[in-house]
Amino acid sequence: MAWVLIVASLVVLWVASLCKILYTSSSPSRNSFLTTGGAFQKRNVLLVVAHPDDESMFFSPTISYITSRGHNLHILCLSIGDADGKGNIRKEELYQACAILKVPLQQVKTLDHPELQDGFGRVWNHTLLAKIIEGEINSHGIDLIITFDGYGVSGHCNHRDVHYGVRKLLRDTPQGNIEAWELVSTNILRKYIGPVDIWFSILDAMQHSGEVMHCLLNEHPQKSFLAMAQHSSQWVWFRKLFVAFSSYTYANMLRRIECM
Ligand SMILES: *[C@@H]1O[C@H](CO)[C@@H](O)[C@H](O)[C@H]1NC(C)=O
Repeated sequence: MAWVLIVASLVVLWVASLCKILYTSSSPSRNSFLTTGGAFQKRNVLLVVAHPDDESMFFSPTISYITSRGHNLHILCLSIGDADGKGNIRKEELYQACAILKVPLQQVKTLDHPELQDGFGRVWNHTLLAKIIEGEINSHGIDLIITFDGYGVSGHCNHRDVHYGVRKLLRDTPQGNIEAWELVSTNILRKYIGPVDIWFSILDAMQHSGEVMHCLLNEHPQKSFLAMAQHSSQWVWFRKLFVAFSSYTYANMLRRIECM
């Protein structure tokens, strides 16, 4: 009898959290992320990821927030994800996912650099990463970068190296007015409680000012699912489960990267 109660309360909690996400994100937003003062100013944002599918699996609430508010989003994917020899397919899948996520395809770039190949144990040179990202910033007039944090959600070394590449860039160009934000990695429990995690995220964000932390709720979780489904070569049962139960499908916590 007790377990029925437990399961029932979990279901209620799940549904209530989902309702909170859909209700909050459809009401006029009080979220101040990307706003500068009162008037609307279009930002040029660069999302830097390591592999095709990172954007749909981890960053879709952020992507949705940026594009639905009329900002310009560029995506730089630093590898074609060729660890299993499917790089060319995965690259195409990235473009299909970006079409679902409403990111203009000419603003999506994938690299296939010999020194930046997909894989555990492959160390990516931070100086090289900083140089490549700087090139993108200059050619598109980017004023804000979003990327992984130092743990990289899953702990994948390529994700972490991307973070340190961005940090290196920020350190090397201190005069620049580039703003950078990282996707906060949560602990394993929070990672897999789906929409229920938003209560922790909202609390976290409330304890910090909008200068350093934002919680972005996903306006269209079903779209994230659809975007991830475009990555057919990766769309196996455990990833379907991951996308349904991952809190990154429902909300993103972003923290400002401070470079001293
Ligand atoms: C890292 O990349 C930079 C710039 O491309 C290069 O000068 C440097 O030698 C590389 N370092 C290593 C350890 O490969």
